[in-house]
Parts: sequence; C-alpha cells; structure tokens
Amino acid sequence: VTIDDLGDGLILRRARPDDAEKLSVFNGEIHRSHDATEPARSIAAWTRDLAIGAHPTFKIDDFTIVEDTRGGSIVSSLNLISQTWLYDGIAFDVGMIELVGTHPNFRSRGLVRRQFEVVHRWSAERGQLAQVISGIPWYYRQFGYEYAIDEGGGRGGIRSRIPTLKDGETDTFRVRSATVDDAPFIAYVYDAARQRYLVSCARDEAMWRHEIGGRSVPSTVRAEMCVVESATGDHVGFLAHPARLWGNTLEVRAYELKAGVSWLAVTPSVLRYLAATGTEYGAQSTPDFFDGFTFMLGTDHPVYRAIPSLLQTTVTSGTWYVRIPDLASFVHRIAPVLESRLAASEAIGFTGELKLNFYRDGLWLVFEMGQLRSAEVWPRPERYQSSASFPDRTFLQLLFGRRSFAEIRHAFPDCYARDNQAQVLLNILFPARPSLIWQIS
Ligand SMILES: CC(C)(COP(=O)(O)OP(=O)(O)OC[C@H]1O[C@@H](n2cnc3c(N)ncnc32)[C@H](O)[C@@H]1OP(=O)(O)O)[C@@H](O)C(=O)NCCC(=O)NCCS
Repeated sequence: VTIDDLGDGLILRRARPDDAEKLSVFNGEIHRSHDATEPARSIAAWTRDLAIGAHPTFKIDDFTIVEDTRGGSIVSSLNLISQTWLYDGIAFDVGMIELVGTHPNFRSRGLVRRQFEVVHRWSAERGQLAQVISGIPWYYRQFGYEYAIDEGGGRGGIRSRIPTLKDGETDTFRVRSATVDDAPFIAYVYDAARQRYLVSCARDEAMWRHEIGGRSVPSTVRAEMCVVESATGDHVGFLAHPARLWGNTLEVRAYELKAGVSWLAVTPSVLRYLAATGTEYGAQSTPDFFDGFTFMLGTDHPVYRAIPSLLQTTVTSGTWYVRIPDLASFVHRIAPVLESRLAASEAIGFTGELKLNFYRDGLWLVFEMGQLRSAEVWPRPERYQSSASFPDRTFLQLLFGRRSFAEIRHAFPDCYARDNQAQVLLNILFPARPSLIWQIS
C-alpha cells in the first residue's frame, strides 16, 4: 500500500482497515473549529462511518495517509469520494476530495500537494471527468481548481412568523421519520426535482438507504430523513434536516414534493413540524433555543415562491471548486446538451467554429449543422484567431452556468468576444442557470 517514500521518516500510503480509529481521531482533532477546546465529534463520527466500510461508494483505502514511521502516527490525510453528477441530465463521474488535513507541525511542506497528485491519478483511473471540493478560500486553486458551481445557500424565516393552527384545526399534512422502505419513493421524488438544476448529484436507492439508516448519529453529514404524508397516508414528498440546531436555527437540507402536489398547501404543515422539532432540539441543547428555520436549498427553489412573506433572511451560497483535467472530453460528454441548446436558439443549424482562448491553451469547437463535430485542445492559441478569450480557468464559471458571459466579461477585462457571432453563440451554448448539489459525502 506504500505509494511513496517522502524521506525524513514519512511515507505516503493508502489507508488500511486497521487505520480506521486513528483516522477518526486525527480528523476529529484537525477539523475542530478554530476556537473549540474539544475535538470535533461530528467529524470523527463521519470519518469512522467512511472508514468502517458501510458507505455505498467508499472504502477505507480511498483515504491517503502520510505516516510518520517513527511513531506510527498520521500526520496528513485526505480522501476521494466517488460519485456521479449530472449536467442537464447527462451523467459524468466525479471524484470529491474531502477531509483534507495536515498536523500543524507538518504543514507547508507540500504533504497535501503530494496527496492531491495521488487522488487526481486515482480519479483519472476511475474515468472521472471532474474533481470537486468544497473548501478553504483560494488554497485549491493551486491544484488546478476554479470556483465554478454554486454551493448551498438558502432562505429563512423566524419562528414567530410560522402560521399557527386555529382552535380545533388539525394539520392536513404530517411529517414522519423515513424508514429504508421509503428509499424508492424518495429516489423517485428527488430524481424529478433535480431536473430543475443545471448540475445535480445522482443518488440511487442504496445511497438513500444509507442516508436513512446508515450514518451514525453524531456524524456531521447525517440528516433526519422524513416523509411528508397527507391525512389519508398518501406520500406527497420528503424532507431532510440535521437532528440538531445550528445556533438557534433548524436548517432544512432537502424538501421536495411529488409532481402535482401544491407547495402552497403543504408548506404550512411542514413549517409547523419544523417549529415543533426545532423547539424540541432547543430544549435538549441549552443555551440554544429555536428561533427560526432556513431552507438551505440554493438560490432558487419552489418553496421560496410558496412562502415569500415568511422569508426574512438570505444565506449567501458558497461555491464548489471544480477541476476538469480534460476539457475537450468533458465537452464531448455534454455535446447533446449543447446541441439541443443550439437547436432551440436563433443559431439553429449553426455550422462553424468557436475558438476559445485561455491564453496558455484553449479549446477549439467545430459545429456542423448544429451538431458538435469536434472539441479539441487548442495548444497555442493565437489572439487574432480567437472567437473569445477567458483568463485562467474562468471559462468553467460559464460552462457550469454560474456566471453569464456578460458577467465574466464585466469582472475580467481580459475576457472578451471577437464579434457578434461569438458572443451570441456563447450566450446560447452556456446560459447561466442555478445548480443544487446534495453531494455524496
Ligand atoms: C490547509 C491545510 C490542509 C494545508 O496542508 P499542508 O500540508 O500544509 O499543505 P501543502 O504544504 O501541501 O500546501 C501546498 C502549498 O500551499 C501552501 N499553503 C498551506 N496552507 C495554505 C493556506 N491555508 N492558504 C494558502 N496556501 C497554503 C503551502 O505552503 C504550500 O506552498 P508551496 O507549494 O509554495 O510550498 C492545513 O493547513 C490544515 O490541515 N489546516 C486545517 C484543516 C483545514 O482547513 N483543512 C482544509 C479543509 S477544506
């Protein structure tokens, strides 16, 4: 399992089953919040869940470890969690890097850099077209990543605004804990809902069963999975939230209804469930108390339009770092999306080239009668031949719909299109559109 001898008593290797407990303790220590006096139990529990082999897409040897052979201790580690994401319905495999940490005495020696090289290689061997990470500011840019997909964010309200029932009234809908038998229903509702986003994460029934019953209680990524039912017991949707308050807020991780069910009708009952549950959690964790709820459902979600007058707060979204090592292959994969965007546009049947200049290299797209004929690396882009230019990796912001071409051009003077045709094509091929990812953690 040794991958590399780093000298000075340090080896870089894959984790083995007998590393599970050490990894859990290491990550609980490293990832505690900066003012915490205790290790992060929630991170230790998540690490242990990953390490003991219960996770559908992860095994302990998906962790890299740098070990100090003098005392056998872990001094640095990270992992690669395999999953599939969708780009407007087209699946592409993704490697997500998580639990990145180095012991303070061993920092700034390139230990994380070395482990990134290893997991980038594993990811390529697994045929993954993208690597993603949600992490500390700027740092991952140096390993080839660009901020490219919205992450989280949401809208919330305060408890006193949650509508109460009048005397004698009962809720038309109720929320109950999900069981593993609900996995097919949740999968079905989720699969329909994720289609409203440009980028989303594929989740199969095995993963839903893991969410429902497979994670240990303190784990930071565990959610209470719930089913929303009508008074007659029909399943109408599902809800997920952590089994604790964050500060004084109960966060909603997922809330989706079956097609044909009214958000306006169901949501008041869901809010009353959140109030009752949040109050219970508050009572268990003084000095916290339930003060409000946040639907952490990204920049755009039907529930926001169902209860606009109850939403006072906005949580700004974060951003996923994305690395696309082979952009031409990625563009080939999503060609059907590009072709249908063209077919529905003013440029229907387009024949011609789009030569994208990223200064160090570029991407050369050729279309014929509205079909993508080729997508190739443009090794030494020539300024006067370029259709459009994008500094660094900013093109990824356009590709993943996070920013429109006009927005990128506004922010970066060295982003521009040569002519009207290039500008129109970029707007058609790469419209801005919200994404919402519930990643496989
Ligand atoms: C952030 C962290 C993982 C970096 O680990 P590390 O082993 O020191 O990283 P490396 O030395 O491989 O980093 C590569 C380069 O980035 C530099 N670097 C280290 N930490 C940095 C930071 N926070 N911001 C910017 N650059 C940083 C290193 O000096 C090195 O520079 P070089 O290539 O010029 O020599 C480590 O500081 C840590 O464990 N922090 C606490 C936990 C944490 O925040 N993890 C990240 C969660 S997303």
